[in-house]
Amino acid sequence: MKLFVTGGAGYIGSHFIADALSEGHEVIAVDNLITSHIQTIERIKQVAGIDFAFYELDICDEQGLRKILEQNQIDAVVHFAALKSVPESISNPLKYYKNNLTGSMVLFGLMKTLKIHNIIFSSSASVYGSSHKSPIKEDFLLKPISPYAQTKVITENILRDMTSSIKEFKALNLRYFNPVGCHDSLLLGESPAIESTNLFPVICSVASGEKECLSIFGKDYDTHDGTPVRDYIHISDLVSGHLSALNWFKNDKKISSINLGTGQGYSVLDIVNQFNSFLDHPIKFELSPRRYGDPGIIYADNSLANEELQWKCSKSLQDMCHDSWNWYSRD
Ligand code: NAD
Ligand code: UD1
Repeated sequence: MKLFVTGGAGYIGSHFIADALSEGHEVIAVDNLITSHIQTIERIKQVAGIDFAFYELDICDEQGLRKILEQNQIDAVVHFAALKSVPESISNPLKYYKNNLTGSMVLFGLMKTLKIHNIIFSSSASVYGSSHKSPIKEDFLLKPISPYAQTKVITENILRDMTSSIKEFKALNLRYFNPVGCHDSLLLGESPAIESTNLFPVICSVASGEKECLSIFGKDYDTHDGTPVRDYIHISDLVSGHLSALNWFKNDKKISSINLGTGQGYSVLDIVNQFNSFLDHPIKFELSPRRYGDPGIIYADNSLANEELQWKCSKSLQDMCHDSWNWYSRD
């Protein structure tokens, strides 16, 4: 397929393009590099051994985007471009509404005008909020807490309304749980523009000695060891879900929202223990109060992804921790 990828220099977009090129798809990508680096584009080409067209462009720039889309017969759009920090979205909500919603509106408007009818949208498990009992199913009520999660719900709703109003339009919302890890080549991985507060990068910074100690947010949740449980998914499994999803456009469904998670939850202490099994020195941690808004347990029901996309995860927790550490500690 000829794919138009937004946010192609980012963590998930870069891994997707590398694997999509290797599978024989043609890719045209844009990114304004607001949270990523231009060097990633060369690395994608190096990993795949295949060239592709890249434009440094803000998707809010309608004229620029139109020029690129008009020149190409696009089969499907894969829309990764967004700002994604939950804490930053709480302190600066307008920045998130402006970038994530304006960018999507401009893109969708051009898709309508130019009759591009297939889109995969990067949604998030954060659309479910924190009060549901896991495993989380796609038809659970959406209760977004942060402005970031709100932008995902609003964009899903816009896509739903477009599928109702345009006969041929098809949209697939993929709701990611907690992506971690890096590409097998160690050429691609996550390089956040602002210091990450997510668990895996924090553990790696403690392991490397940059940070003294991991604060574990909560020890009295109703879980097997009291610490919170999440559904971590390896980036290569997440990407293979997208590649399987491209076939979904061939069926007669117009819209779907599908969870991409392993269906298996691990606690913070499970993760710490997994890292300790291969590190020279154990991770130093302290048990701290709960983080505001954090649910105790979140993991996916991924049966819809298994059925609709014929997709399964293949990476273990050990792979996720190993690869995250190998990426973080590379030369
Ligand atoms: P990322 O920050 O690494 O990548 C996003 C990319 O989009 C960046 O390269 C950034 O420069 C680009 N971008 C942002 N706004 C843009 C704009 N207006 N025009 C052009 N480019 C723009 O993030 P990621 O982890 O690769 O996430 C990709 C998508 O997946 C995002 O939509 C994110 O919300 C979603 N998501 C990510 C996670 C996660 O944990 N990584 C979880 C759930 C959902
Ligand atoms: C966060 C985002 C979510 C996003 C996901 C993956 C919030 C509220 N949600 O989810 O939208 O999809 O990242 O990028 O930010 N933890 C600690 N100590 C730390 C860091 C984390 O104990 O220093 C714990 C947290 O309490 C949580 C687990 O580790 O239970 C995972 O945290 P994190 O990686 O931040 O992901 P989420 O909060 O699940």
